[in-house]
Amino acid sequence: MTLYGIGLGPGDAGLVTVRGKEVLDEVDVVYSPGRLSRTVATKYVDDEKIGDLSFPMTTDPDELRDAWKEAATEVAPRAKDGDVAFVTLGDPNVYSTFGHLRRTMDAFHPDVEMEIVPGVSAMTAFTTALGIEIDAGSGLALREAARGAAPTGPDRMVLFKVTDAPTTHEKLVEAGYDVKYGRRLYMEQGETLVTEDPSDLEERDYYTLAYAEKADLDKDRPTAEYEPNAEAPSDD
Ligand SMILES: C[S@@+](CC[C@H](N)C(=O)[O-])C[C@H]1O[C@@H](n2cnc3c(N)ncnc32)[C@H](O)[C@@H]1O
Repeated sequence: MTLYGIGLGPGDAGLVTVRGKEVLDEVDVVYSPGRLSRTVATKYVDDEKIGDLSFPMTTDPDELRDAWKEAATEVAPRAKDGDVAFVTLGDPNVYSTFGHLRRTMDAFHPDVEMEIVPGVSAMTAFTTALGIEIDAGSGLALREAARGAAPTGPDRMVLFKVTDAPTTHEKLVEAGYDVKYGRRLYMEQGETLVTEDPSDLEERDYYTLAYAEKADLDKDRPTAEYEPNAEAPSDD
């Protein structure tokens, strides 16, 4: 029997994959690490199917290891007797709590089969939400910008955990980047916001990301791009 790690996408139940929904239907228990992922999961499974696990809000490595060991002890026997799922927002392999569970299962319960169902990650969904095209041949880096941090270096970056947008913004602009922000993109819970003005984001919200691009980026690549007033070919 199997433990499935299911990516639920950014928060809109309509962006759960067909495969994700099929597995949610089939499993006996669905564990969810947070309120938001639970809200999405319960669009497809009854509340009674949601399993009980407590998840640590800590970055202390010892506390983390202990808590995930405890979680794995609860999940392992159920995954041996039947099929269970652990759901996360986005993709289970991108900056995700599922990684803690997978590593703990590998170490202490290697006999449990695991299968991952990929989800739509904020790492790719941001493009459409922010109206950005990462065209072929472009480099794109994923970084974290918690508590006012502002990583620099790559030409284009997606920044997760932008919890102090005004401070991050000031540093990025100083370093020569143009920046656009997205909050609660494709989420049914809370207001979606897309802005280039960091003062719109003074209130802290964990579900905030940024796209930063070097202002002087050379975009002279071969591409099908036209002047706004280019004449359409005439028939005559
Ligand atoms: C721990 S990471 C989880 C990423 C997730 N596994 C994924 O693949 O999208 C959490 C960060 O992802 C970003 N994020 C995730 N979902 C988002 C959404 N719907 N809108 C905006 N940012 C989001 C935020 O920067 C947030 O701090």
